[in-house]
Amino acid sequence: MTPGDFQFISDLLKKRSGLVLTSDKSYLLESRLMPVARKHGLKGLDELIQAVRDSGEGSLVIDVTEAMTTNESFFFRDNKPFDLFRDNVLPPLIESRAAKKSFRIFCAAASSSQEPYSLAMILKEAGAQLQGWKIDIIGTDISTEILTKARSGLYTQFEVQRGLPIQLLMKYFEKQDDQWLICKDLRDMITYKEYNLLDDLSPLGRFDVVFCRNVLVYFDQETKGKVLDGIADLMPDDGILFLGGAETVLGISERFKPKPEQRGVYGLVTD
Ligand SMILES: C[S@@+](CC[C@H](N)C(=O)[O-])C[C@H]1O[C@@H](n2cnc3c(N)ncnc32)[C@H](O)[C@@H]1O
Repeated sequence: MTPGDFQFISDLLKKRSGLVLTSDKSYLLESRLMPVARKHGLKGLDELIQAVRDSGEGSLVIDVTEAMTTNESFFFRDNKPFDLFRDNVLPPLIESRAAKKSFRIFCAAASSSQEPYSLAMILKEAGAQLQGWKIDIIGTDISTEILTKARSGLYTQFEVQRGLPIQLLMKYFEKQDDQWLICKDLRDMITYKEYNLLDDLSPLGRFDVVFCRNVLVYFDQETKGKVLDGIADLMPDDGILFLGGAETVLGISERFKPKPEQRGVYGLVTD
Protein backbone atom coordinates (compact mmCIF):
# COMPACT_ATOMS: atom_id res chain seq x y z
CA MET A 1 0.00 0.00 0.00
CA THR A 2 1.37 3.42 -0.93
CA PRO A 3 1.64 6.18 1.71
CA GLY A 4 -1.01 8.03 -0.32
CA ASP A 5 -3.43 5.09 -0.05
CA PHE A 6 -2.82 4.81 3.69
CA GLN A 7 -3.50 8.53 4.11
CA PHE A 8 -6.65 8.25 2.01
CA ILE A 9 -8.06 5.40 4.13
CA SER A 10 -7.11 6.99 7.44
CA ASP A 11 -8.72 10.31 6.40
CA LEU A 12 -11.87 8.44 5.35
CA LEU A 13 -12.08 6.58 8.67
CA LYS A 14 -11.49 9.73 10.70
CA LYS A 15 -14.20 11.60 8.80
CA ARG A 16 -16.77 8.80 8.92
CA SER A 17 -16.28 7.35 12.41
CA GLY A 18 -13.74 9.47 14.31
CA LEU A 19 -11.25 6.58 14.29
CA VAL A 20 -7.66 7.75 14.24
CA LEU A 21 -5.49 5.23 12.43
CA THR A 22 -1.82 5.89 13.08
CA SER A 23 0.82 4.40 10.78
CA ASP A 24 1.91 1.89 13.48
CA LYS A 25 -1.57 0.36 13.09
CA SER A 26 -1.28 -0.02 9.32
CA TYR A 27 -1.00 -3.82 9.78
CA LEU A 28 -4.66 -3.73 10.87
CA LEU A 29 -5.71 -2.59 7.42
CA GLU A 30 -4.58 -5.79 5.79
CA SER A 31 -6.12 -8.19 8.32
CA ARG A 32 -9.42 -6.33 8.58
CA LEU A 33 -9.90 -5.20 5.00
CA MET A 34 -8.98 -8.38 3.13
CA PRO A 35 -12.32 -10.03 4.08
CA VAL A 36 -14.12 -6.89 2.82
CA ALA A 37 -12.22 -7.09 -0.47
CA ARG A 38 -13.19 -10.75 -0.85
CA LYS A 39 -16.84 -10.00 -0.03
CA HIS A 40 -16.94 -7.38 -2.80
CA GLY A 41 -15.12 -9.60 -5.31
CA LEU A 42 -11.95 -7.48 -5.28
CA LYS A 43 -8.52 -9.07 -5.58
CA GLY A 44 -6.63 -7.25 -2.86
CA LEU A 45 -6.13 -4.06 -0.88
CA ASP A 46 -4.99 -2.01 -3.87
CA GLU A 47 -8.15 -2.90 -5.80
CA LEU A 48 -10.27 -2.28 -2.72
CA ILE A 49 -8.81 1.18 -2.15
CA GLN A 50 -9.28 2.08 -5.80
CA ALA A 51 -12.91 0.93 -5.61
CA VAL A 52 -13.46 3.04 -2.46
CA ARG A 53 -11.91 6.04 -4.25
CA ASP A 54 -14.23 5.46 -7.22
CA SER A 55 -17.44 4.78 -5.27
CA GLY A 56 -17.16 7.58 -2.67
CA GLU A 57 -20.17 6.43 -0.66
CA GLY A 58 -22.22 3.25 -0.50
CA SER A 59 -22.01 -0.26 0.92
CA LEU A 60 -18.29 -0.70 0.27
CA VAL A 61 -17.40 2.40 2.28
CA ILE A 62 -19.76 1.31 5.08
CA ASP A 63 -18.18 -2.16 5.14
CA VAL A 64 -14.67 -0.65 5.26
CA THR A 65 -15.65 1.61 8.17
CA GLU A 66 -17.35 -1.21 10.09
CA ALA A 67 -14.43 -3.56 9.52
CA MET A 68 -12.06 -1.08 11.12
CA THR A 69 -14.09 -0.57 14.31
CA THR A 70 -13.19 -2.65 17.35
CA ASN A 71 -16.29 -4.30 18.81
CA GLU A 72 -14.67 -5.95 21.78
CA SER A 73 -17.05 -6.06 24.74
CA PHE A 74 -17.98 -8.32 27.60
CA PHE A 75 -20.51 -8.57 30.42
CA PHE A 76 -19.83 -6.38 33.48
CA ARG A 77 -16.65 -5.17 31.79
CA ASP A 78 -14.15 -4.04 34.46
CA ASN A 79 -16.77 -4.85 37.17
CA LYS A 80 -16.20 -1.69 39.22
CA PRO A 81 -18.27 0.69 37.04
CA PHE A 82 -21.23 -1.67 37.33
CA ASP A 83 -20.77 -1.91 41.12
CA LEU A 84 -20.67 1.89 41.23
CA PHE A 85 -23.81 2.09 39.10
CA ARG A 86 -25.67 -0.33 41.39
CA ASP A 87 -24.40 1.02 44.72
CA ASN A 88 -23.71 4.74 44.19
CA VAL A 89 -25.71 5.90 41.19
CA LEU A 90 -28.93 3.89 41.24
CA PRO A 91 -30.06 4.59 44.85
CA PRO A 92 -29.99 8.43 44.53
CA LEU A 93 -31.53 8.12 41.06
CA ILE A 94 -34.44 6.09 42.46
CA GLU A 95 -34.87 8.70 45.18
CA SER A 96 -34.71 11.75 42.94
CA ARG A 97 -36.96 10.26 40.23
CA ALA A 98 -39.50 8.78 42.68
CA ALA A 99 -42.24 11.23 41.66
CA LYS A 100 -42.15 10.47 37.93
CA LYS A 101 -40.93 6.89 38.29
CA SER A 102 -38.84 6.96 35.18
CA PHE A 103 -35.31 7.51 33.95
CA ARG A 104 -33.31 6.96 30.79
CA ILE A 105 -29.92 5.36 30.22
CA PHE A 106 -27.80 5.83 27.09
CA CYS A 107 -25.19 3.24 26.11
CA ALA A 108 -23.42 5.31 23.50
CA ALA A 109 -21.26 2.62 21.89
CA ALA A 110 -23.19 -0.47 22.80
CA SER A 111 -21.43 -2.91 20.46
CA SER A 112 -22.89 -6.41 20.90
CA SER A 113 -24.88 -5.20 23.93
CA GLN A 114 -23.11 -6.83 26.85
CA GLU A 115 -23.02 -3.39 28.51
CA PRO A 116 -26.76 -2.58 28.17
CA TYR A 117 -27.68 -6.14 29.18
CA SER A 118 -25.40 -5.93 32.24
CA LEU A 119 -27.27 -2.76 33.27
CA ALA A 120 -30.63 -4.41 32.53
CA MET A 121 -29.68 -7.32 34.82
CA ILE A 122 -28.71 -4.92 37.62
CA LEU A 123 -32.07 -3.16 37.24
CA LYS A 124 -33.95 -6.47 37.27
CA GLU A 125 -32.05 -7.52 40.38
CA ALA A 126 -33.13 -4.26 42.06
CA GLY A 127 -36.58 -5.92 41.99
CA ALA A 128 -39.49 -4.42 43.91
CA GLN A 129 -37.88 -0.98 44.23
CA LEU A 130 -38.35 -0.45 40.49
CA GLN A 131 -41.76 -2.12 40.18
CA GLY A 132 -43.96 0.04 37.95
CA TRP A 133 -41.09 2.23 36.78
CA LYS A 134 -40.51 3.14 33.14
CA ILE A 135 -36.83 2.75 32.40
CA ASP A 136 -35.50 3.25 28.90
CA ILE A 137 -32.11 1.88 27.90
CA ILE A 138 -31.01 3.10 24.48
CA GLY A 139 -28.05 1.31 22.90
CA THR A 140 -26.45 2.92 19.87
CA ASP A 141 -23.55 1.99 17.66
CA ILE A 142 -22.20 3.01 14.28
CA SER A 143 -22.13 -0.61 13.14
CA THR A 144 -25.32 -2.12 11.72
CA GLU A 145 -23.80 -5.57 11.83
CA ILE A 146 -22.95 -5.46 15.53
CA LEU A 147 -26.41 -4.11 16.37
CA THR A 148 -27.97 -7.08 14.59
CA LYS A 149 -26.07 -9.29 16.99
CA ALA A 150 -27.06 -7.03 19.93
CA ARG A 151 -30.74 -7.34 19.03
CA SER A 152 -30.52 -11.12 18.70
CA GLY A 153 -29.50 -11.48 22.36
CA LEU A 154 -27.50 -14.57 21.39
CA TYR A 155 -24.06 -15.21 22.84
CA THR A 156 -21.51 -17.95 22.46
CA GLN A 157 -20.23 -20.04 25.34
CA PHE A 158 -17.01 -18.01 25.24
CA GLU A 159 -18.93 -14.71 25.49
CA VAL A 160 -21.04 -15.76 28.48
CA GLN A 161 -17.92 -16.99 30.24
CA ARG A 162 -16.42 -13.51 30.09
CA GLY A 163 -17.60 -11.53 33.12
CA LEU A 164 -21.08 -12.97 33.57
CA PRO A 165 -21.66 -14.54 37.01
CA ILE A 166 -22.98 -18.09 36.67
CA GLN A 167 -26.13 -17.35 38.72
CA LEU A 168 -27.08 -14.55 36.31
CA LEU A 169 -26.40 -16.85 33.35
CA MET A 170 -28.73 -19.47 34.84
CA LYS A 171 -31.38 -16.92 35.75
CA TYR A 172 -31.57 -14.81 32.60
CA PHE A 173 -30.33 -16.98 29.72
CA GLU A 174 -31.48 -20.17 28.10
CA LYS A 175 -29.44 -22.54 25.99
CA GLN A 176 -30.29 -22.44 22.31
CA ASP A 177 -28.29 -25.08 20.41
CA ASP A 178 -24.68 -24.14 21.09
CA GLN A 179 -25.49 -20.54 22.05
CA TRP A 180 -27.15 -18.74 24.96
CA LEU A 181 -30.22 -16.54 24.45
CA ILE A 182 -30.89 -13.74 26.92
CA CYS A 183 -34.51 -13.71 28.09
CA LYS A 184 -37.17 -11.66 26.33
CA ASP A 185 -37.83 -9.56 29.42
CA LEU A 186 -34.31 -8.18 29.26
CA ARG A 187 -34.27 -7.91 25.47
CA ASP A 188 -37.44 -5.81 25.69
CA MET A 189 -35.78 -3.34 28.06
CA ILE A 190 -33.38 -2.08 25.38
CA THR A 191 -33.97 -0.09 22.21
CA TYR A 192 -31.18 -0.07 19.63
CA LYS A 193 -30.43 2.63 17.11
CA GLU A 194 -27.73 2.87 14.53
CA TYR A 195 -26.11 6.20 15.37
CA ASN A 196 -22.80 7.91 14.74
CA LEU A 197 -21.42 9.70 17.80
CA LEU A 198 -20.00 12.36 15.48
CA ASP A 199 -23.55 13.38 14.54
CA ASP A 200 -25.86 15.70 16.47
CA LEU A 201 -27.00 13.57 19.42
CA SER A 202 -29.98 15.73 20.44
CA PRO A 203 -32.59 13.68 18.48
CA LEU A 204 -31.89 10.81 20.92
CA GLY A 205 -33.51 12.79 23.76
CA ARG A 206 -32.44 13.36 27.36
CA PHE A 207 -30.53 10.87 29.51
CA ASP A 208 -30.02 10.63 33.25
CA VAL A 209 -27.10 8.21 32.93
CA VAL A 210 -24.71 7.79 30.01
CA PHE A 211 -22.27 4.96 29.46
CA CYS A 212 -19.76 5.98 26.80
CA ARG A 213 -17.08 3.42 27.41
CA ASN A 214 -14.13 2.28 25.36
CA VAL A 215 -14.91 4.27 22.25
CA LEU A 216 -13.42 7.75 22.89
CA VAL A 217 -10.08 6.02 23.17
CA TYR A 218 -10.08 5.62 19.36
CA PHE A 219 -10.69 9.36 18.69
CA ASP A 220 -8.37 12.38 18.68
CA GLN A 221 -8.64 15.07 21.38
CA GLU A 222 -10.83 17.39 19.36
CA THR A 223 -13.34 14.64 18.49
CA LYS A 224 -13.40 13.39 22.09
CA GLY A 225 -14.19 16.94 23.24
CA LYS A 226 -17.00 17.36 20.72
CA VAL A 227 -18.59 14.03 21.62
CA LEU A 228 -18.35 14.74 25.36
CA ASP A 229 -19.87 18.20 24.95
CA GLY A 230 -22.66 16.68 22.84
CA ILE A 231 -23.35 14.15 25.60
CA ALA A 232 -23.32 16.88 28.27
CA ASP A 233 -26.10 18.65 26.34
CA LEU A 234 -28.32 15.55 26.73
CA MET A 235 -28.07 15.40 30.51
CA PRO A 236 -29.88 17.06 33.43
CA ASP A 237 -27.70 18.80 36.05
CA ASP A 238 -27.47 15.63 38.15
CA GLY A 239 -26.72 13.38 35.15
CA ILE A 240 -23.94 10.82 35.45
CA LEU A 241 -21.40 9.80 32.83
CA PHE A 242 -19.36 6.60 32.83
CA LEU A 243 -16.19 6.37 30.73
CA GLY A 244 -13.83 3.46 30.09
CA GLY A 245 -10.75 2.76 32.19
CA ALA A 246 -8.38 4.39 29.67
CA GLU A 247 -10.59 7.44 29.13
CA THR A 248 -11.01 10.74 30.96
CA VAL A 249 -12.61 14.16 30.59
CA LEU A 250 -9.58 15.91 32.06
CA GLY A 251 -8.02 18.31 29.58
CA ILE A 252 -10.72 17.38 27.04
CA SER A 253 -14.07 18.77 28.21
CA GLU A 254 -14.85 21.48 30.74
CA ARG A 255 -18.42 20.26 31.01
CA PHE A 256 -17.71 17.26 33.28
CA LYS A 257 -15.83 16.73 36.52
CA PRO A 258 -14.76 13.41 38.08
CA LYS A 259 -16.82 12.10 40.98
CA PRO A 260 -14.45 11.82 43.94
CA GLU A 261 -13.40 8.25 44.69
CA GLN A 262 -15.51 6.83 41.86
CA ARG A 263 -13.06 6.07 39.09
CA GLY A 264 -14.52 6.46 35.62
CA VAL A 265 -17.63 8.28 36.90
CA TYR A 266 -18.27 11.94 36.04
CA GLY A 267 -20.87 14.54 36.91
CA LEU A 268 -21.70 17.77 35.12
CA VAL A 269 -20.09 21.07 36.03
CA THR A 270 -23.12 23.16 36.90
CA ASP A 271 -21.65 26.43 38.26
C1 LIG B 1 -14.74 -1.42 21.99
S1 LIG B 1 -16.45 -1.28 21.66
C2 LIG B 1 -17.04 -0.77 23.27
C3 LIG B 1 -18.30 -1.49 23.68
C4 LIG B 1 -18.78 -1.22 25.09
N1 LIG B 1 -19.07 0.18 25.28
C5 LIG B 1 -17.77 -1.68 26.11
O1 LIG B 1 -17.14 -0.85 26.77
O2 LIG B 1 -17.60 -2.90 26.26
C6 LIG B 1 -16.49 0.23 20.72
C7 LIG B 1 -17.74 0.39 19.89
O3 LIG B 1 -17.79 1.72 19.41
C8 LIG B 1 -18.39 1.71 18.14
N2 LIG B 1 -18.05 2.98 17.46
C9 LIG B 1 -16.87 3.33 16.91
N3 LIG B 1 -16.96 4.57 16.38
C10 LIG B 1 -18.22 4.99 16.59
C11 LIG B 1 -18.93 6.18 16.28
N4 LIG B 1 -18.35 7.19 15.61
N5 LIG B 1 -20.22 6.26 16.64
C12 LIG B 1 -20.83 5.25 17.31
N6 LIG B 1 -20.21 4.12 17.64
C13 LIG B 1 -18.93 3.98 17.29
C14 LIG B 1 -17.81 0.47 17.48
O4 LIG B 1 -18.61 0.02 16.39
C15 LIG B 1 -17.76 -0.51 18.65
O5 LIG B 1 -18.88 -1.34 18.68
